[in-house]
Amino acid sequence: MNRILYADDCLKVLNDEKALPDASIDLIYLDPPFNSNSKYNLPFKGKDKTHKPVEAFVDIWKWSDEDAETLDDMSRDPRTRSLASIVQFAQGIEQMSGRRKASSLASYLLNMALRLRAMRRVLKPTSSIYLHCDPTASHYLKLLMDSIFGPNNFLNEIVWYYRGAGVPRNTRAKRHDTILWYARHKGSHYFNPDPIRRPYAQATQERFKHYIGNVRPTGDYGQQQLNPIGKHPDDVLDYIQPIAPSAKERLGYPTQKPLILLDGLVQSSTNSGDTVLDPFCGCGTTVHAAEALGRKWIGIDISKFSAGLIRDRILHNFKYLNADDVDLRGTPETVAEARALARQDPFEFEKWVCGYIGAEGMFREPGEKGADGGVDGVLKFFPVREGKKVKPEYAIVQVKGGNVTPDAVKALHETVRRYEATAGVMVCFANQLGTVENQRVKATFSDAWGSYPVIQGYSIEALLDDAQSLDLPLYGYKRRGAMLNL
Ligand SMILES: C[S@@+](CC[C@H](N)C(=O)[O-])C[C@H]1O[C@@H](n2cnc3c(N)ncnc32)[C@H](O)[C@@H]1O
Repeated sequence: MNRILYADDCLKVLNDEKALPDASIDLIYLDPPFNSNSKYNLPFKGKDKTHKPVEAFVDIWKWSDEDAETLDDMSRDPRTRSLASIVQFAQGIEQMSGRRKASSLASYLLNMALRLRAMRRVLKPTSSIYLHCDPTASHYLKLLMDSIFGPNNFLNEIVWYYRGAGVPRNTRAKRHDTILWYARHKGSHYFNPDPIRRPYAQATQERFKHYIGNVRPTGDYGQQQLNPIGKHPDDVLDYIQPIAPSAKERLGYPTQKPLILLDGLVQSSTNSGDTVLDPFCGCGTTVHAAEALGRKWIGIDISKFSAGLIRDRILHNFKYLNADDVDLRGTPETVAEARALARQDPFEFEKWVCGYIGAEGMFREPGEKGADGGVDGVLKFFPVREGKKVKPEYAIVQVKGGNVTPDAVKALHETVRRYEATAGVMVCFANQLGTVENQRVKATFSDAWGSYPVIQGYSIEALLDDAQSLDLPLYGYKRRGAMLNL
């Protein structure tokens, strides 16, 4: 299988030798949480200003008893002792600086240390690993990388400099991320600069114009030669901008990275047919670049929302692929598994359904009371109205892993009105659809193509079978309405 998405903690997958055999990966790119002490939300531009956006993932760390035990084990094992010292060193710094919530950095580093270490096993001798981070923790992460991969295998620190708005009062504006690049074995690693060469500046081209394209004997300008296909890439990426709000590739996923950034890394560090792994793959930028470049790929994200979202992203952008070509693992495949997930982790169950049906938007905070009438997700679709520009309208998605009560259906309708959405979708197990059918208001809405019920039911069974899609205009394209970006 050339395209695999795991909805799981990457540590678990990285430690599974069947899933990821030794020395099987040509390139790892990871863009993990940065220890930013933030929650990242999925935006929903509803009209109700009182809504609370809900998170895609949390980047807040707190030292736990489990962390303490792990650190203890690590410091006893000679192979991981130096990693443990780095974590202890960070603890010391936190304590010295008198931070009240001490040890969030240490917890973050400990968790990263375990995962980075597990990545080493799966890398081929010719491979590279790129760790995307920012100055919040890049200096500590570099220590971890040195300890795991060896300082000798450090290749470079790539700075991604981007433009941005916002001028802080007391300091210079923060405008760069850092990408730490290591080889598994420096010297044997694959690197081809040609695909990422950039054209020379006009003045340079002018000065060297006699030489461009010619093999030049020694001469006035020393040994310098101009390669006909452009300048050798350096370690500052100053030509890649963050994804603009209106950009076609924007999916609304927080921290989504630009495709062109990943395109350059994948092209220069792998060959066609090689395997790329992104263990913190978010909305799948790395796997998108890998697919476009004819590489095999494996993406892992702990959020069950990501897998469905990425599958849609890939199927939407690469029409030669069928749903079966993308192997989803760690998400329910049978009704029994779906029921088990709904019981064990209702929040992840909701996220899974939302990702699977292409919904974006809001999720309740874990642990927050799940009041009926809440919003679990938002689906975009595109009614065609005569004489009007096609623009997205919204359906509120409510996911129920258990019984659907008549009140829940009424509440959904109420929520649709409150958010001034066009429709409401109740996703539940098939045996609950009757209640949706009986209780739903008979209201419909229409566009040039037909008329549609305002409140609709959709069963988990149908979703798993890919059997039926929702009755929403231009939602079709096999659930890829949300990706149209019209
Ligand atoms: C900064 S985002 C990655 C964004 C990604 N580069 C993109 O362009 O979409 C970090 C991701 O790591 C995921 N994550 C956090 N902890 C994880 C873990 N232990 N295993 C796998 N994924 C994890 C989060 O759910 C989040 O999607």
